Amino acid sequence: MAQPVLDQWSVSEQDYPRSGTAAEQLRFLLGYAVLAPSSHNAQPWHFRIRGDELDVLVDRTRALEVLDPEHRELVISCGAALFLLRVAMRYFGREPIVAVLPSYEEPDLVAVVKLGPERDRTVEDELLFRAIPERHTNRLATDERPLPPALVLAMKDAARQERAWLRSVEEAPQREQVAALIAEGDRRLFADREYRRELVAWMRPNDEAARDGVPGFAYGLPDLVAPMGTRLVEMFNSGRLTGFRDRRLALNAPALVVLGTAQDAPKSWLAAGQALGRVLLQAAARGVWSSHMNQPIQLPELRESLKQALGLDGYPHLILRLGHGDPLPHTPRRSVDEVLID
Ligand SMILES: Cc1cc2nc3c(=O)[nH]c(=O)nc-3n(C[C@H](O)[C@H](O)[C@H](O)COP(=O)(O)O)c2cc1C
Repeated sequence: MAQPVLDQWSVSEQDYPRSGTAAEQLRFLLGYAVLAPSSHNAQPWHFRIRGDELDVLVDRTRALEVLDPEHRELVISCGAALFLLRVAMRYFGREPIVAVLPSYEEPDLVAVVKLGPERDRTVEDELLFRAIPERHTNRLATDERPLPPALVLAMKDAARQERAWLRSVEEAPQREQVAALIAEGDRRLFADREYRRELVAWMRPNDEAARDGVPGFAYGLPDLVAPMGTRLVEMFNSGRLTGFRDRRLALNAPALVVLGTAQDAPKSWLAAGQALGRVLLQAAARGVWSSHMNQPIQLPELRESLKQALGLDGYPHLILRLGHGDPLPHTPRRSVDEVLID
């Protein structure tokens, strides 16, 4: 299978500048933050290093205006990058000191991170750090292997640690209701030509040198079909077919979980992103894949139906399907140089 350039995934801990300046260390640690997941792999982040402090900023030029007009998923993606940065910092023996949304005057500045006091690495630090290069989204069907018994509990705990919650959809009638909402979300989203245009703008052939976007193989498309797939998605409404497939995937997944927060504002979105990072690394550390089925949350009326179906107290942000299956290659990332600003 042809593959895009994947340099960013070969970051090596041997290269950590232990006796370098704080700025050099922060720059190195960003090599892990850029491996975070983001909607359509848009990587909507900028970073700025000022002495021993690092600013995390949203890059609204990479917003998905049709899918995410409030920029909720955009902030969640930046939260995931912030979490990976925290994990790397702790692994290399420094406590991260984080101020979230520190300035009303600069709303795009979502966090300021400082290298705090030295600390000993814990078993959890090691587990999460080792999972960073193992994690990726896998949209293929899961096989029948059940999840490790303690994983759902570990993911619930992970979400709580980041001020979010995680609800596992286990009972058959509720799973059926959520699966039906996912399928309905597919039908409504794909019926919108603007949605399809935006999706296609971030789809890439398998061998393209692009540093962002989603290659065809990540959707299960072979090399020859991937470029054609893009055109077909834009031209035809495949909502019914996609809905049919996603409903089955949701019903058959060993776990389907909803991640949410008590409030629905930028601070909570940032918490949800950090919780997503922690939850995904907990799963990846146990060899478990995940993929998103957020369609009902991306449409306000279906988000409300999801809340009612599950009796949720708060605001759902993401739906994840988890399980075992065949591995896939990574998707590409922009380099640290490309995301650093002055
Ligand atoms: C906030 C957020 C929303 C996402 N929503 C979807 C989604 O609706 N459908 C999907 O297939 N993938 C979704 N993804 C997964 C991204 O497409 C994926 O993270 C990105 O392509 C990078 O690939 P990787 O996770 O394999 O590194 C989402 C990721 C994030 C962080």
